[in-house]
Amino acid sequence: MTMTFPTYHAEAVSDFHPAPSVDELEATTLQVSRALPKEAGVLGIPVGVDGEVPRELGLSRAQLKAAGFTGKVGQSLVIPRAEGSALVVVGIGEKADSDLASLRDAAAAFARAAGHYVHLGFTLPDLGGIAPDVAAQAVVEGVLLARYRYRPLKRTSQQEPPLEALTLLSSSLPLEEVKRGVERGRITARATELARDLANAPATLLTARRVEEIARVVAAASGLDIEVFDEKALAKMGCGGMLGVNAGSAEPPRLIKLSYRPKDERGKALEPLGRVSLIGKGIMYDSGGLGLKPNDLVHAAMKTDMSGAAAILAAMSTLSALGVKASVTGYLMCTDNMPGGKAMRLGDVLTARGGKTIEVLNTDAEGRLVMMDGLVLATEEKPAPDAILDIATLTGACERALGNDNAGVMGNHQGIVDQVRAAAEKSDETVWQFPLDKRLRGELDSEVADLKNIGGVNAGQITAGLFLEEFVDGIPWAHIDMAGTSRIDSDKAWRSKGATGYGARLLIEFLRSFSAPKETRH
Ligand code: BES
Ligand code: MN
Ligand code: ZN
Repeated sequence: MTMTFPTYHAEAVSDFHPAPSVDELEATTLQVSRALPKEAGVLGIPVGVDGEVPRELGLSRAQLKAAGFTGKVGQSLVIPRAEGSALVVVGIGEKADSDLASLRDAAAAFARAAGHYVHLGFTLPDLGGIAPDVAAQAVVEGVLLARYRYRPLKRTSQQEPPLEALTLLSSSLPLEEVKRGVERGRITARATELARDLANAPATLLTARRVEEIARVVAAASGLDIEVFDEKALAKMGCGGMLGVNAGSAEPPRLIKLSYRPKDERGKALEPLGRVSLIGKGIMYDSGGLGLKPNDLVHAAMKTDMSGAAAILAAMSTLSALGVKASVTGYLMCTDNMPGGKAMRLGDVLTARGGKTIEVLNTDAEGRLVMMDGLVLATEEKPAPDAILDIATLTGACERALGNDNAGVMGNHQGIVDQVRAAAEKSDETVWQFPLDKRLRGELDSEVADLKNIGGVNAGQITAGLFLEEFVDGIPWAHIDMAGTSRIDSDKAWRSKGATGYGARLLIEFLRSFSAPKETRH
């Protein structure tokens, strides 16, 4: 699946490519083999805290220990050799035979330790507790995502070389199975890289209109239907949240609706195993609106405030290739939040799709205002979705509470929340659940409207969740607050500094194993 994007011509940056990593990854050779190709400059060899040290290494555990290598996850030791490729020993920790996240982390540590090489080999360990294809997928994800760099705007400075080839080696595992996992890893890593590219792109270059162009290219390349609603359409539809947030911006908004329907190999429609609707926050830039954010680095991160929408576009780009059996509808709620002359003011009342009124008491609590329109649209689908899942860089409170490793999850249906948690474990895009405690609901009561858009000073991530719950009409629903996990300041395992692409792989896992709850409304 090659995607060629139209390039962007702005005065300062010509030929800006909005998703360069997708094409770059397409050009990376991924292969499986019984022996290391001679072009490979380096071979990675995983070693656990205990158990045997592979013979090919030619070193004993005592020798490794003497060099400071104990086998802890993430440890690496580069061993240059006079002849042949260099070796890198990487630690895969204690539960080495069953811990998928450790294997992915080890592969990432290897890719970073071998950062100067362009052709890598990696020995796929024979793990009792993990199927060869699943292990291969994790290794490919770890290596490709660790080597990710956002390059399109670096012109004269030194760059790390992009990866040209990765060979997975095994002397005993069935190579066909390994190959299947490698292909899946390419697909899932490509999705994450697409999400990263979009979130890393400066807000002036990546507008809501540009997301429409990109989504059209992605939809065409990956068998999705696409429908786009501009400001006129949004007004007709009564999407007062989208229009209210967009009011202060010179750039128009876009609501991008993507649909995936499962088909058989011949392209014949299949009866879907469940229906899922996804809603993503697509704030192209969150200035805070009239309640302008301070001029600090958190503000600079607000070009990534569309990471939820990016995760959905990225995840949906893989559904056909992965043969997902559920039918999936995605809503990307794209606009920026700017303080122009027509911007929404404090005390203004917006009307959401469906008629609920919202008093705006903080122009910086804009995410929930765009999300509410998307949630209502999802509840109106015929047939109704079995589950609604939304993902948003919604609250600083969530980042305060959990830091940058876990996203928050909450919902009105424990079964759906549990499916999110399981997908989060598999993808290592982890979550922690907050209680949607009804006792906080009173904080959203407004004097003049049905609701106000902020709660009290405490538990801001929960009052934001309670706000969203007002719009799901009792349909089984979960909400992921990815404010803390959307970006990272320095490289950490497979997360490369900048936008993390969080959510794309989590959503893919969720959709691959989705099972519709028995009850429909509650
Ligand atoms: N986009 C921000 C949330 C955010 C903060 C994302 C930090 C990533 C990193 C959101 O729109 C916002 O401004 N939230 C406010 C809500 C408040 C006004 C109720 C916040 O968290 O301060
Ligand atoms: Mn905001
Ligand atoms: Zn925001």
